[in-house]
Amino acid sequence: MLYKLTEEQNMIWTMVRDFSREVVAVKAAERDKTKEFPIDNLNQMAELGLMGMMVPPEYGGSGSDTVSYVLALSEIAYSCASTAVVMSVHNSIVCESILKYGTDEQKEKFLKPLAAGKYIGAFALTEPQAGSDPLSQNMTAVKDGDYYILNGTKRFITTGENCELVIVTVKTDKSQKHKGISAFVVEKGTSGFIVGRREEKLGLCASDTTDLIFEDCKIPASNILGAEGEGFKIAMTGLDGGRIGIAAQSIGVANAAFDASVNYIKEREQFGQKISKFQGIRWMIADMATEIEAATQLMFSAAAAKDRGEKYTMQASIAKLFASEMVNRVTACALQIYGGYGFTKEYPIERFYRDARVFTIYEGTSEIQRIVISNNILQDKRV
Ligand code: CAA
Repeated sequence: MLYKLTEEQNMIWTMVRDFSREVVAVKAAERDKTKEFPIDNLNQMAELGLMGMMVPPEYGGSGSDTVSYVLALSEIAYSCASTAVVMSVHNSIVCESILKYGTDEQKEKFLKPLAAGKYIGAFALTEPQAGSDPLSQNMTAVKDGDYYILNGTKRFITTGENCELVIVTVKTDKSQKHKGISAFVVEKGTSGFIVGRREEKLGLCASDTTDLIFEDCKIPASNILGAEGEGFKIAMTGLDGGRIGIAAQSIGVANAAFDASVNYIKEREQFGQKISKFQGIRWMIADMATEIEAATQLMFSAAAAKDRGEKYTMQASIAKLFASEMVNRVTACALQIYGGYGFTKEYPIERFYRDARVFTIYEGTSEIQRIVISNNILQDKRV
């Protein structure tokens, strides 16, 4: 590995790898079938400090750097991608946004229980008609004395059903574009905050993805995150960090498919010999390893830039774009190596293949990443 890890990063990596393979892996296949939310994993992960990884200790977090976080996240994804996506949204977008933009009171009230894993957080930007183009969102918040009244519907919200609170973006000023969007923290149980339908999905089956409906939902004005009009910036900043996390999830699943493939080819015999003896198969393994290594370096490069306090928007998009497309190639290749067995539910490969598919879509499609990357290079905005 080119990137030189510190002793602490190595320690966290080893600890999470052992935990993930001994604990998280055990029920992953079953969960994929039953769609049971991995609250048991998440509770244990909270004990290990994995639910507030980048939150400073003063708020009950682990105070780890981003490199340690992505190592941990990729190890959780190695065993169960459904558990990993909950960890990812919670740590990167929810905790980090409140840490960066929250008031002292919000940090006390929301960040502390989030970092302790007592609350699980969700992030709601997307709407039925506003996916890649979040500016076209329709949900509104109208000020009413010391309160805001929220109305609208959010779609495809990871952990919408099982979260305790959600950061939601809304229009507070329809006459403005980006600066007309604000972000609020809304707690479960608030009157008028309803969990809508749960999606039936191809993959990540144990992670719930739901609609969130707000009907005259009245929340204290003090729940605004940042200032009025800062919601788009808060979402984009959160997504920058989130996208490194999607690279980590991709690398975790790719490594799982890769390791399984290496073991399989050493066992499987055809034409009188192990299939690992065939050059065609060996070249597949070499290509998979090369792609995973490249994605891992890109992930480290983006995470390290964030840790150094540099602007890392483009690096995050590059890592997300390459890693998410890589894992789709790698899992497809693993399935090809397994042949007919790979197509069955007897082996985990088809789950890896299905879970990987959304990585090129959520937290910004590959096409959006290419827009972000080219806009950053050319300094000339185009969508
Ligand atoms: N950080 C901080 N500010 C940013 C930013 C960033 N990365 N990107 C943009 N901004 C700011 C700009 O500086 C600009 O501010 P000013 O007006 O003050 O200069 C403002 O935001 C508008 O920027 P753009 O004109 O570039 O915005 P745009 O409307 O052209 O959109 C986009 C840019 C990249 C296409 C953006 O809309 C985007 O990322 N779309 C994809 C949305 C997405 O990823 N959705 C995923 C849903 S969330 C999810 O999947 C979570 C889950 O549950 C798993």
